[in-house]
Order: sequence, then C-alpha cells, then structure tokens
Amino acid sequence: MARKLRTAILISGNGSNLQAIIDAAQASDYPAAISLVLSNKEDAFGLTRAKNAGLETITISHRDYPDRETFDRMMDTALRANNIELVVMAGFMRILSDWFVTTWAGKLINIHPSLLPKFKGMHTHQRAIDAGEREHGCTVHWVIPELDSGEIIGQAKLEISPTDTAETLSHRVHALEHVLYPRAVAEVAARLLKN
Ligand code: GRF
Repeated sequence: MARKLRTAILISGNGSNLQAIIDAAQASDYPAAISLVLSNKEDAFGLTRAKNAGLETITISHRDYPDRETFDRMMDTALRANNIELVVMAGFMRILSDWFVTTWAGKLINIHPSLLPKFKGMHTHQRAIDAGEREHGCTVHWVIPELDSGEIIGQAKLEISPTDTAETLSHRVHALEHVLYPRAVAEVAARLLKN
C-alpha cells in the first residue's frame, strides 16, 4: 500500500470537521493517515470521536503553561514525538505563536468559516449578514503568523437567503466545510508526499 502522510488534527471542541476527515480517511487511497488528535481541552467532544475511531489522542491544556510559546513548544514536542508531517487545525481555538507557525510553515493548514479575505476573525456569519453579502462560505488556507491571511488552498460557497440567521448560516457553512476540508487535506497531503 502507498505511504500515507502522518497527519495531526488540532481541535478544541465538537470536532465535526475532524469526523469528516476521519470518515474520508477510511478510503484505502486517502493520502493522509490521522496519526494524532491533539486537543487543548480535555472535555472536547472531538476527543471522543477520535477514541471511537481508535486514534491516538493527547490533551495539552494551555492553562498549564505560563505563556503562548511555552504551550506551543509542548505541542511541538508531541507532534515531533509522533513524527507528524502535516498539522491540520480543525476548530482549534488558540492563536498560535509566531514561533510555532514559522517552525511548521508549509505543513500547517486551517479552515475558516468565511470567504477569505472577507471576515477574518470571529462571528463571521453575523458579520456576513450585517454586511449584506449575497455569498458566504468557508476557506482552507495555509497558516502564517498574520491571522486568517495565508495563501488560499480551497473555498466552498453558498448563497445567503433572506431568511438566514447566524445560526442557520453556521449549519449550512459547516455542511460545506465537511466536504471541502477532507478534499483539501487530501490535496495537500498528496502534494507533500511527492516532495
Ligand atoms: C468551524 O466552523 C471552523 O471553520 C472553525 O471552527 C469550527 C469548528 O467546528 N475554524 P467543528 O469543531 O469542526 O465542528
């Protein structure tokens, strides 16, 4: 069987994107293997999803460390101990230090719930409605020190309907994410395997 890229998924919560990638990774020709699921919260439901799938998990609580970079260095140690080649942020609610982002440059991706470069940061669905946008969606991008600003890998779009609320949009965008992210991870993993 072809070699698969050793991939870590970083989560903080529900982990529905993690689940979508777990499901996609069942295919024998999927180029990434989920070698580690790392959470900064011990009660993240994504950890249950990972354990149900028989995946290796680790919790590193940011509360146990005095500053961002010390926490990030612990994550880096765990990732290296597991020979990780690609890091996938999937609802990981911590801002990473420049040190971590630079160390993992070219091997670190994120999904953001807006059509970047529009609506970087939080509350993207309400902000899209308030701005009178017709289209909205999600973006997978490389992570660079500047928040939500790295090169775009892929996007998925929907039309905002007049009846949409932030809540309905959040559900609709999540459904797009669950299709986009497993594909984008496969594309990136296939590319990195060739290098
Ligand atoms: C998603 O909306 C993603 O775009 C954002 O965080 C959310 C994670 O959702 N970065 P889940 O934990 O994968 O369900």
